Amino acid sequence: MLEVAHKNDIELEGACEGSLACSTCHVIINDQAVYDALPEPDDDENDMLDLAFGLTETSRLGCQVIAAKELDGMTLSLPKATRNFAVDGFVPKPH
Ligand code: FES
Repeated sequence: MLEVAHKNDIELEGACEGSLACSTCHVIINDQAVYDALPEPDDDENDMLDLAFGLTETSRLGCQVIAAKELDGMTLSLPKATRNFAVDGFVPKPH
């Protein structure tokens, strides 16, 4: 979802570029049934979600939700804020 957002000029942060080292790509899945149909978040994702601002029962990290045809029509909300510990101008290094 992070890549899809960026390709469509949606301002979803992704400070660590999907390497599961931040929570700035936090999204809220608007439909509980859709959330339930997704593979469960693994421990690493849950650890980062614990740091997310405004965590909800249907929160996920956008970089961990893989776009698939079955998700067509899914809607997401962005939280009102994110926690980004990086200073302005920080550019993450690829792993
Ligand atoms: Fe950092 Fe998703 S972009 S965890």
